[in-house]
Amino acid sequence: MVKKYVVKRSGKFWPSEEMKRIAWVSDDKIYKEAEKNLIKFWEKLAKEGITWEQEWNETYYEKLPYFEWFKGGKLNFCVNAVDRHLDKGSKTALIWIPEPLNEKPIKITYAELYEKVNRFANVLKGLGVKKHDVVSIYLPLIPEALIAMLACTRIGAIHSVVFSAFSAEALKTRILDGNAKILITADGYYRRGKKEYLIKKAKKAVKGTDIKKIIVVNRLGKKVFGRKYLDFKKELGKAETYYKPEIMNSEDIMFILYTSGTTGRPKGVIHDIGGYAVQAYWTSKWNFNLHDDDVMWCTADIGWITGHTYAFYGPLLNGATTLIYEGAPDFPDPSRWWKIIKENNVSVFYTAPTAIRMFMRFGDKYVSKHKLDSLKILGTVGEPIDKGAWMWYFNKIGKGRCPVIDTWWQTETGGTLINALPGVGPFVPTISGRSFPGTKHIIVDDKGKLSQEGKTGNLVQVSPFAPGMLHGIYKNHKKYAETYWKRFKTKYDTSDGAYLNKGLIRITGRTDDVMKVAGHRLTTAELENALNNHRLVNESAIVPTPHKIKGQVPVAFVVLKGRKKGSERLIKKLKKHIDKVIGPTARPEKIYFVQDLPKTRSGKIMRRILKSIINNEKPEGLTTLVNPEIVKDIKGLISEEGK
Ligand code: WTA
Repeated sequence: MVKKYVVKRSGKFWPSEEMKRIAWVSDDKIYKEAEKNLIKFWEKLAKEGITWEQEWNETYYEKLPYFEWFKGGKLNFCVNAVDRHLDKGSKTALIWIPEPLNEKPIKITYAELYEKVNRFANVLKGLGVKKHDVVSIYLPLIPEALIAMLACTRIGAIHSVVFSAFSAEALKTRILDGNAKILITADGYYRRGKKEYLIKKAKKAVKGTDIKKIIVVNRLGKKVFGRKYLDFKKELGKAETYYKPEIMNSEDIMFILYTSGTTGRPKGVIHDIGGYAVQAYWTSKWNFNLHDDDVMWCTADIGWITGHTYAFYGPLLNGATTLIYEGAPDFPDPSRWWKIIKENNVSVFYTAPTAIRMFMRFGDKYVSKHKLDSLKILGTVGEPIDKGAWMWYFNKIGKGRCPVIDTWWQTETGGTLINALPGVGPFVPTISGRSFPGTKHIIVDDKGKLSQEGKTGNLVQVSPFAPGMLHGIYKNHKKYAETYWKRFKTKYDTSDGAYLNKGLIRITGRTDDVMKVAGHRLTTAELENALNNHRLVNESAIVPTPHKIKGQVPVAFVVLKGRKKGSERLIKKLKKHIDKVIGPTARPEKIYFVQDLPKTRSGKIMRRILKSIINNEKPEGLTTLVNPEIVKDIKGLISEEGK
């Protein structure tokens, strides 16, 4: 019989008796227990969830803007994700679904993963990679990504993964920032039936960097020549099968992951080993109720934090099975994802609102013919989810049986922080819920005063900060201190707006210049910088505008040098330029050529006014402008286009 995991009561969804029966956490006492002593609570979780070589001598130490968890503790991350599951070595750790239908899925057991990771650890060591060195990884969603990342953690190297859709220039900036000597990449991957050659971009990116060797996964059968290049599989085959895990300090850096910075340069968010492991383990276990027989599919790419924590590390720390899929969601047609769920008995499915909205548009027919009865829990992440998308997800994918867990978190937080727990609830469309047990978030006004229920304010986290939180911005103390600790001093500034609804947290979205485009994080400044660097552009302004599927998309206003008039051809050129500098994810939806941008007397570009014009709202604050007449021109331009 198909099981039901939710029930409806007084307009809200709650866990059913069946869900309560199987849930690790089935009542809200856990929150009260945690609140008694947040530090002791995490200390207990750290001991229970993670295998340590040596226990810490100080559980939590804080000297803002820095803080450390499990100081003095020693461990190896790879031991926790792989070695300790060897007693069930024949269990599948990873299921990989290639995009081409004529290729069979690949299953890798924990024992096989162990061997491959050990071998690859030896490959890296053989190339001179030492503890604390940064290794750059530019790989698509293929098993070698997991092997490479875990091998780094085994030898104590720091991995820096760059999203495979990012441009050569974006990769280069990140390689330079980490001063990496080794790059792990692939010849390419399949996307919508086409071969995407990653290697071309990789070759371009390493010019002018210190990269000595490039290890290439042969996915497409393309021959890669040159002294610098090594073949992933060949090297693996030659290497020894055991590498003694390096014993690391809990607070050593485990990885760097770049996220858009306000001034244009990406920020290297630093995560440590111990704290990250503890949060990744427990949030995976409690949010997704992972048990031995669960197959979790988190659809995020490993180029993002969601891919790091919930496609790879969280499920593996729990000894569960994780599934990854190489290709496009709608290839060869929009039933691909649902077939994957069915054929692999996926029980936990975690995706982004943008994907849900895309499937809604395709129509119900692709999903209604699939029962999807292996599913137990659905998750969403990356941007606020609207009620329509939530209900569609709940009814069409979950068939009204599974809770939808709306998880709020950030690259900086390492793991989820605000959501309902599946065995506790309630599951309310558009509302994320409560702070994860052991963490605390409040909503304050711009002066830092507590906001009242229902009033939108700034979402901040209070001390003790969650164990998985970032430990700085790589080589950039100033940016770290300014971005997260300047506004509210002793509270971590999330830059998200939120309000309380009957004690539950509803996220309203970013309050800074960050956009979420199809779940991807971009800043207006980063895009403007890229545009302004084009030889024909004098200056530009980017404003986010709502989009039915992607949530938000960037729209560009461009002033050309010499105030020249633009053309369709130039629009295409500028879009290509953005592809080249950042990647196609950042491509503006529209580009308008304007004679000037609305500016204040001090020369500040008033993006707010452009935003109102684009959204057909009455722009306010025109009196502060030096050039109010330009507003009329821009309005004219946009309404002209709408005709
Ligand atoms: C947004 C992704 C509403 C938020 C894990 C945050 C969300 C930013 C949610 C971080 C959610 C993430 N509801 N908004 N459930 N989850 N966000 O670093 O604005 O790519 O600050 O991390 O995504 O994006 P990032």
